[in-house]
Amino acid sequence: MAHSLRHSEEPPETNRRALRNFWALRHYLWDYRGRVALALGALILAKGANVSVPLLLKEVVDALDTEAAAIGVPLFLLAAYGALRLASSGFTELRDVLFARVRHRAMRRLTVRTLRHLHDLSLRFHLERRTGALSRDLERGASSLSTLLNFAVFSILPVTVELLLVAGILVTQYGGWFAAVILVAVVSFVGFTIALSNWRMQDRVQANHLESEANNQAVESLINYETVKYFGNEDHEAARTDATLRDWEDMAVRAQGSLSLLNFGQGAIVALGVTAVLVLAAQGVRAGDLSLGDLVAVNALLLQLFLPLNFLGTVYRQVRYALADMDRLVGLLERTPEVTDAPGAPPLEVPRGEVRFEQVDFAYEPERSILRDIDFTIPPGRKVAVVGPSGAGKSTLVRLLFRFFDVTGGRIAIDGQDIREVTQASLRERIAIVPQDAVLFNDTLYYNIAYAREGATREEVEAAARVAHLDGLVADLPQGFETLVGERGLKLSGGEKQRVAIARAVLKGSPILVFDEATSSLDSRAEQGILAALREAAANRTTLAIAHRLSTVVDADRILVLEGGTVVESGSHRELLDHGGVYARLWRLQQEEGSGVR
Ligand SMILES: Nc1ncnc2c1ncn2[C@@H]1O[C@H](COP(=O)(O)OP(=O)(O)OP(=O)(O)O)[C@@H](O)[C@H]1O
Ligand SMILES: [Mg+2]
Repeated sequence: MAHSLRHSEEPPETNRRALRNFWALRHYLWDYRGRVALALGALILAKGANVSVPLLLKEVVDALDTEAAAIGVPLFLLAAYGALRLASSGFTELRDVLFARVRHRAMRRLTVRTLRHLHDLSLRFHLERRTGALSRDLERGASSLSTLLNFAVFSILPVTVELLLVAGILVTQYGGWFAAVILVAVVSFVGFTIALSNWRMQDRVQANHLESEANNQAVESLINYETVKYFGNEDHEAARTDATLRDWEDMAVRAQGSLSLLNFGQGAIVALGVTAVLVLAAQGVRAGDLSLGDLVAVNALLLQLFLPLNFLGTVYRQVRYALADMDRLVGLLERTPEVTDAPGAPPLEVPRGEVRFEQVDFAYEPERSILRDIDFTIPPGRKVAVVGPSGAGKSTLVRLLFRFFDVTGGRIAIDGQDIREVTQASLRERIAIVPQDAVLFNDTLYYNIAYAREGATREEVEAAARVAHLDGLVADLPQGFETLVGERGLKLSGGEKQRVAIARAVLKGSPILVFDEATSSLDSRAEQGILAALREAAANRTTLAIAHRLSTVVDADRILVLEGGTVVESGSHRELLDHGGVYARLWRLQQEEGSGVR
């Protein structure tokens, strides 16, 4: 959680970063340059039509204002007026349709790229992140890309062009005074907009942050539905979310207040500017310098000028937000994974399947050492068991073997190859695991088993399910293999989930097997059956088995007793019993509890 949260609490991005992120967008545009050019063409035509409308309007009014009006306004003028309006809206829509592909393809590419990157990031990142906040960053980041592309191409550029165009017409047709008034109006409009937008930015950011926070709290309380109910904490959850929303409410009200101030200020500047120009135009008409048509055209041009300017305030704000969102996503993309493939790393070769831990030291955090001087070998095709109290570091051994973390000292080698010097993909492919807490996808039972190996046939999946003694369950379920297992597999019992995990490991069929409390959720009878099947599956495979119940590992070639991060005893079951140490004591205790009953 710390990282993503800290990130959003950072002050809004520096301008240099923002500009750099903005500049990075060019690839998305360049890849589609043909389409972008067409869209820009449509845009120019639309703007041209737009600016011509007031000029044509002048012709119409002037035609009506002359003696010739008795004959009627030339029909073609009226028709042209209509056609220009139509062209303006037609080209605008065409532009949007052409550009839609560019925008959406860019969103798609960015989202997939980010997802891949998130998968590459290390377990440590994922243990610390907040899923809710992360998925929001992803979503907002992708839509901010679309916003930025859109604005860059269709707002900032065209508004500038239109401004210059209108200003040019006014200066050449109507002289310096008009231009001066308009210049003053435009400059004060833009200055006011930027100043006020910057001032209220912080409120908006804060309001957004509080909203996300409230959202996260609500979602979290729903994810933990059962826990909330066990402790009757519905009121507490509602109050927690409400407290955040109260702050959000205040902040949002303030943000609306400042928005209204912004809008009103803009309106005032426009009103003053238009009035001043109209006064000038009216004087011109009275002096006979300007026609009535000129007056109408000037008014229309002005309104047309301020319409996009008005929009500019919104654009400015949205671009700032979009850049901030984008920056969060870029920040994610810039995080380098902690565990990476060495440059040019070859795939792992497992001709024999020997696993060696050589004087391995490990700490998750520098202050707290978890494993110290762990040194053992699992000969090819043999089984080594690790037993020991909770928190001793047993599952940590497995995480190190899978290279979710790198060892702090010593090394882990498979058939003589340091696992840091081969590709992670090949390493993980060669090891099958039944994890301590199996978590499933919210899909069908079949999908969840077949997940272990892409391209597994129906027969193979069914055979694996049989080995894991899942066939009885499948027969009982009305929808059999097609049953949906619920989020994280919560619609299955603990033992059923564990059997799915076993079926997965069997289906994966790797030369090295890891069982982390593989049968801890099963009752003794089911356990005996599955153990027999697992023994068969593990025959001739190198096996690392972790267990609480010693009865499940008596057949291991070697048993390590791990306590406080070091191996305190090791040997075969017989040897350890004869030794009369920790293992022998544990064994007696568990025997007394009733032979094998949990
Ligand atoms: N990501 C982590 N960051 C910091 N400490 C961790 C992390 N994961 C585990 N630990 C700590 O490392 C120690 C060993 O954990 P591990 O999961 O290896 O224990 P274990 O022997 O498998 O216990 P159990 O039998 O209960 O499964 C524990 O004290 C745990 O608190
Ligand atoms: Mg464990």
